[in-house]
Amino acid sequence: MKLGIVGAGMVGSSAAFACVMRGAASRIVLVDIDEARARAEAEDIAHAVPFAASVQVDAGDYADLAGAGVVILACGVSQKPGETRLALLSRNAEVFRAVVGEVMRHAPEAILVIASNPVDIMAQVTQALSGLPPGRVIGSGTILDTARFRWLLGRHLGIAPRSVHAYVLGEHGDSEVLAWSAARAGSVSLESFAAQMRTPLTDAARARIDEGVRRAAYTIIAGKGATWYGIGAGLARIVAAIAGDEQAVLSLSTVGNVQDVGEVACSLPRVLAREGVSATLMPDLAASEQEALAASARLLKEGFDSLSL
Ligand code: 2OP
Repeated sequence: MKLGIVGAGMVGSSAAFACVMRGAASRIVLVDIDEARARAEAEDIAHAVPFAASVQVDAGDYADLAGAGVVILACGVSQKPGETRLALLSRNAEVFRAVVGEVMRHAPEAILVIASNPVDIMAQVTQALSGLPPGRVIGSGTILDTARFRWLLGRHLGIAPRSVHAYVLGEHGDSEVLAWSAARAGSVSLESFAAQMRTPLTDAARARIDEGVRRAAYTIIAGKGATWYGIGAGLARIVAAIAGDEQAVLSLSTVGNVQDVGEVACSLPRVLAREGVSATLMPDLAASEQEALAASARLLKEGFDSLSL
């Protein structure tokens, strides 16, 4: 499968690198307004090919996206230290007004995967601008927050993150909801795991993990200016699920009615395969989590409604 990536900054380039390392695509084209940067990143990443999968990596322009099965949009501005994701909205909506039309002109068959922040609203913007069915416009949403949650929980419980089944829902941002009540370690509830393995999960430990997930990007941005490896791996996971027609359940952001808030893009566990998102799952949530999810969805809907597209 051919993969296009618009935006060859750290996120787009890390996604390309991660796709090469896991062999998620057979051909990757990097497109950036800074053509020299795209060429340099493509060449650097191509030098990893002899150590990884047989992938052709090039820089190109929009016309080179023709025939792509997936196009990742990782263009626009990113957060400065202390800045929220939502503060990027008007600037990135402006960038997308120009980019989405170009992508649709050259790769009308592609599934669009949105990585630019605020990712949920940018996914809804892209769906509105492209006119594509909602399941074909996929925000990376909380795939990264879910990974952070599973990693921190796994570390606390002393088991592999892959054996932790837990999701972060709603906004990829400050209002996100850690679905504690639906989390499972192996096949058992966290309470049962704590009792069986004598690993207490106290309120203080939960608060530390919540803070660790919710504040992760702020901490990393304060230390090195941006985040890219985690999201790059998450984007490659999405591409692999589409290319491999996996029916994988991932926390992703697509447009739909959530908690009776109306049409909004925010993350829920969704089934992902070749044609995009085919189904959405609503986890069994505690009442407080349901309320928090509705509040998160309302915030995102207000953000989208504030734009004139
Ligand atoms: C992240 O959570 C900044 O959205 C980016 O790493």
